[in-house]
Amino acid sequence: MRTVAVIGAGQMGSGIAQVVAQAGLRVLLSDVQLDLAEKAKAKIAKGLARLVEKEKIAAADAESALSLIVPVGDYAAMVEADLIIEAATEREDIKHRIFEAAGKVLRADAIMASNTSSIPITRMAVSSPDPARFIGVHFFNPVPVMKLVEVIPGLATSAATVDAVKGFVARLGKEAVQSGDEPGFIVNRILVPMLNEACFVLGSGTASVADIDKGCRLGLNHPMGPLELADFIGLDTCLEIMRVIHGSTGDSKYRPAPLLAKYVEAGWLGRKSGRGFYDYSGEVPVPTR
Ligand code: 3HC
Repeated sequence: MRTVAVIGAGQMGSGIAQVVAQAGLRVLLSDVQLDLAEKAKAKIAKGLARLVEKEKIAAADAESALSLIVPVGDYAAMVEADLIIEAATEREDIKHRIFEAAGKVLRADAIMASNTSSIPITRMAVSSPDPARFIGVHFFNPVPVMKLVEVIPGLATSAATVDAVKGFVARLGKEAVQSGDEPGFIVNRILVPMLNEACFVLGSGTASVADIDKGCRLGLNHPMGPLELADFIGLDTCLEIMRVIHGSTGDSKYRPAPLLAKYVEAGWLGRKSGRGFYDYSGEVPVPTR
């Protein structure tokens, strides 16, 4: 494998682009407009510079990783990719459109993968040119720090595709776990209902934002409390994941918390919008309830 295309230059796509380039592979990074991919590259440059400052990596390695990242403005360039990873918004309609468009340039020996957080792979594979070469590769945020990647074969995914993607994950220095194609896979199926439950606890007035988070940090040794983590992931993403799990299973225990839906309706999406369960406008995040 020499070249990887990453579609979507948000926090996940940028993180994936960074670790792929640090592993010595060429990255074609795209978003809906070229300037978004260029801005993402500039942000990755800052992240790499911080790693150099902290003496985690050599300046020459940061420079060489950065030189491997090529922002691209359309799908045509992706004909060079051995692997195309979609890391766009967690909306199924958008993802289907991407697979159809990128599928037109996907080489006959190349693999198409989705970094979806929850949407079943088999369902998305129908929009790709060859479901045998379609697979889920699910990274965790922040990608440069988190060791895990879930590998999710769909019904038609070939064993060769699974092996190639596991080899790719190992090349990145990450650990793979394989999950069956169930909504939310392994980790989000367990995590996001917990974050949703924290929203129910907050909405019912049981405890404040600060105490819910403190409770889980100190009582469970979690690095972040659930509301802080939901803000970090993005409340819109958390809500979408709950909707997918709820819709796919039909089980009412997965219904999204009304407070979570309200925050998303208000545009309070967490860190990325400056406000969620915390207000991020000042030096330190301040709980809002
Ligand atoms: N990019 C790169 N490196 C980062 C980073 C980022 N965005 N954020 C933090 N780091 C690095 C820091 O540089 C630091 O590195 P060092 O130890 O080598 O100096 C290290 O991570 C620890 O960072 P900090 O000291 O600044 O802060 P913390 O100790 O509080 O750690 C954290 C920050 C790593 C984000 C930690 O709070 C954590 O692990 N939180 C939980 C994250 C989590 O659960 N992620 C999974 C979310 S679910 C998901 O992604 C799935 C999706 O589908 C929804």
